[in-house]
Amino acid sequence: MKGILLAGGTGSRLQPMTLGVSKQLLPVYDKPMIYYPLTTLMFAGVRDILIVTTKRDQDAFRATLGDGERWGMAFSYAVQLEPRGIAEALLIGRDFLDGGPSALILGDNIFYGHGLPEILVAAAGANPGATVFGYWVKDPEHYGVLDLDAQGRPRAIVEKPARPPSHYAVTGLYFFASDAPELARTLRPSARGELEITDLNALYLAQGRMRAEILGRGFAWLDTGTPESLARAAGYVESVEQRQGLKIGAPEEVAWRLGLIGDSQLEALAHALRASAYGAYLMSLLPSK
Ligand code: G1P
Repeated sequence: MKGILLAGGTGSRLQPMTLGVSKQLLPVYDKPMIYYPLTTLMFAGVRDILIVTTKRDQDAFRATLGDGERWGMAFSYAVQLEPRGIAEALLIGRDFLDGGPSALILGDNIFYGHGLPEILVAAAGANPGATVFGYWVKDPEHYGVLDLDAQGRPRAIVEKPARPPSHYAVTGLYFFASDAPELARTLRPSARGELEITDLNALYLAQGRMRAEILGRGFAWLDTGTPESLARAAGYVESVEQRQGLKIGAPEEVAWRLGLIGDSQLEALAHALRASAYGAYLMSLLPSK
């Protein structure tokens, strides 16, 4: 399964911070925002990722992430010329996916919780067409929302409903079968001029091929769309990292723990960042010689 990491958009709600810098490169405490969804894809078993950015920001993403090789990964890049919706990423990524299944994640979505890697791997393996992840939030009207029946099966999926049918927001992580680009091609732009991922998921639901996995309250799914939510996400990461002395969302560590790189490569990566606490942390993971 290949991955698409969508990091386009103008970040208008975070202006002026985003006037010269992509939202998804802004820091969330001690690392760029995009590291969090990137490591989520790594945990899902994805090794080959297409990073979709605006034209303006592509060089900055290349400078931050490179070609992925140093992390045992493979990154390619593509441009989304205008913010024309999440589902457009599947059209942009059509050739890259080469007829295979995909995991699509939004570059501003932060997931954290015990057992998440196992849940992701199992969900990817059981995907009937589209798999979405629901998460209880206070304000579901700002998101895609799931309508669930008494057995917890999805009955409908709606984008930003004025009257939400449940508190379960649809998070920005989706698994798709190989026909997703083909189905995405049949979508028409919504009132906000976007190819809505919710419309694509609704097509799968109508075919009886959409699964909704609920992430329980023991998980954190954090928002970074406004200055307040960005600061809260940073505070959350800082709290956990300071308490444990372990980092959330460090690709070097994840690559090492997943066996994509060995001790000597981790040491080289840590050495390159040695001036920072981040580099010292990576170094501290290595068995002492
Ligand atoms: C998008 C999707 C929405 C989803 C959300 C998750 O919203 O359209 O269904 O719940 O991402 O972050 P947008 O960020 O485009 O408002």
